[in-house]
Amino acid sequence: MNSFARPVCIIGTGYVGMACTLGLAELGWSVHGYDILTDRIERLRLGIPPYREPGIAESLREHLDSERIHFFDHIDEAARDCEIVIVAVGTPAREDGSADLGPLWTAIEQLSTVRFTGWPTIVIRSTVPPGTSDAIAAAVESWADLVYAPEFLREGSAVSDFLNPDRIIIGAEHPPQAVRYVHLLQRLQKRVVFTTRCNAELIKSCSNAFLALKISFANEVANMCDVLGATSDDVLRGIGYDRRIGSEFLRPGIGFGGPCFEKDVKSMAHVAAQYGLGRELFSATLRVNDAQPNKILKILESELPTLTDATIGIWGLAFKAGTDDVRDSLALRMVEELGRRGARMVVYDPAVHVTPLPPGSRLVTSALEATHADALLVLTEWPEFARIDPLKYASNIERRVVVDGRNVLDSSRVAAAGLTYRGVGRSERGMEVPLRLVSAGS
Ligand code: UDX
Repeated sequence: MNSFARPVCIIGTGYVGMACTLGLAELGWSVHGYDILTDRIERLRLGIPPYREPGIAESLREHLDSERIHFFDHIDEAARDCEIVIVAVGTPAREDGSADLGPLWTAIEQLSTVRFTGWPTIVIRSTVPPGTSDAIAAAVESWADLVYAPEFLREGSAVSDFLNPDRIIIGAEHPPQAVRYVHLLQRLQKRVVFTTRCNAELIKSCSNAFLALKISFANEVANMCDVLGATSDDVLRGIGYDRRIGSEFLRPGIGFGGPCFEKDVKSMAHVAAQYGLGRELFSATLRVNDAQPNKILKILESELPTLTDATIGIWGLAFKAGTDDVRDSLALRMVEELGRRGARMVVYDPAVHVTPLPPGSRLVTSALEATHADALLVLTEWPEFARIDPLKYASNIERRVVVDGRNVLDSSRVAAAGLTYRGVGRSERGMEVPLRLVSAGS
């Protein structure tokens, strides 16, 4: 099966790098992982993954044992014998919103010192502003080919997303340059889109910007529903039944967080400004998202006499369900804001076990423990929260208030337990006639 004799080198062991490493090993390739973080390499050699995701610890163990994966702390050893080097390092946002390409150029500089035994193809998978991979291609043209192949992996399901992509986008100015990379993924039997590097860069950044735009749109609709006495869940479901729109990424809540969306939308706004183009849609997407946490805090505030010295039970800190990542988590930002306003928090998240919290606040180890408070605030869409019977915690909540910033709880069950339920665009009147889908003849 493994007709590609040489190993593949992956630079970077974050979410994208690890998904590529484990995904390619699953496909039968031999992989060399490299990172400048030597302690991370040490831990990976011991089989300890750098983040939480279902199945990755087992997959890492299996492929270390079968020696399909090796980790290196010297780039020359890692890359020398490889024909394909995949670069998956971070491109964080700078103060002005532009992408910091420092780590990417460092990786390229490091690669330029490698004594390759053949002519390598470098595949950039980091998200970069348009034009970046052409600049890198020019810098490496005397010793390597350069392909840009964006990733669309979600945290929490990155390896399975790698193995089940909707499409594989490959940016290469000369298609033969991409042949090796396509060969690597041929077992996936997925649609491959060949295009230029610049097109591929735009496909990636604009996909994320559009998804973020959809979420901000859903939040604006939900805020409107609140005022009009309508139900955002039903309105957005009704909108999503139009196949041209689609129902995904229309879940209202506290806004989008995480290391990608805000950074990528900011980067697109920065690029637009750089070329003298309109950036209204990008800016509005960010503005709506920035304002959304405050809208939810206002709902909480309206249900309590004061936030000062109030104890707020918090369900969820991670930026989304299925991960322990709190980077750019709006949940964490809201907890910090509540701290500034004088509230104390009792916080529970099924995956987050350590994180700095405002003074007087603490992390607890069960969801029910976090309900011993004046009010309960749900900030991450963990499905297990909906499975807890509200009768189990109703009497713990002093002021009998539940603010569901993710619309994950069953509002009628919460209300039936004698609690005041407030969701995002879930007005009581709107929910009197729940949306039903029946076929026209029935
Ligand atoms: C995202 C993209 O989905 C992925 O393709 C890209 O490669 C990296 O960025 P990720 O950051 O892992 O992936 O998270 P995602 O599942 O997209 O969610 C991002 C944020 O949006 C989370 O905070 C989530 O809670 C929020 N969200 C998502 C909503 O508020 N509503 C939705 O309908 C969907």
